[in-house]
Amino acid sequence: MKLCIDHADTQEIRRICASYPIDGVSTNPSILAKSGRPPYEVLKEIREIIGNDGELFVQALSPDAEGVLAEAHRILAETGERTLVKIPSTPEGFRAMKLLKAEGIRFIGTAVYTAMQGFLAAKCGAEYVAPYVNRIDNMGLDGVQVSKDIHDAIVRNGLDSGLLAASFRNTQQVLELIRYGVKAVTVSPDVIDCFARSAEVDSAVMRFTRDFEGLCGVGKTMLDC
Ligand code: G3P
Repeated sequence: MKLCIDHADTQEIRRICASYPIDGVSTNPSILAKSGRPPYEVLKEIREIIGNDGELFVQALSPDAEGVLAEAHRILAETGERTLVKIPSTPEGFRAMKLLKAEGIRFIGTAVYTAMQGFLAAKCGAEYVAPYVNRIDNMGLDGVQVSKDIHDAIVRNGLDSGLLAASFRNTQQVLELIRYGVKAVTVSPDVIDCFARSAEVDSAVMRFTRDFEGLCGVGKTMLDC
């Protein structure tokens, strides 16, 4: 399963990449707006951080399919051929997906709130489908279950696609999909920070240090004894 960062603050991306096994970075127009910087400047810096093998996801905004195709060409020219273009999973978006598929451009079906949208994006050739887990929860539905339904629909219909589940508010939502074996998740730094942080873990590590210092002296490690 791939783990991506859903963010465009390059300082945060560097910090998370230094500690965690990160496979890529996803952005959307709102995330880019939060950075307050020119979009291609930020995206190029992200590309430098994650390298050419890292997956970068960039959303197109054009309301019509031909516009999305033109945007896709510009996005790839600016950020590298390995970038995936995010296309909203709407009727016009599906038309755009078919145009990109015909040209061999990699893309992801985004803004997915229902299993049917996810299935259709996968059937149009989307390499990934992005259900918005927490936003679906906030509609009074079950975002994790919708994501599992899309995963199952893809697997059972033999489609060459998988999830890039997005919009998480807590570790539990992410963990449920990791357990289910989805293709990828993209998570904001504040939720990633909670993956391995707890008072119990900190206390266990401090106890080891204190015990060892009792044996070998303050500040000593296995290098000093
Ligand atoms: O790209 C979609 C995803 O980033 C949405 O996340 O946190 O705005 O619900 P959020």
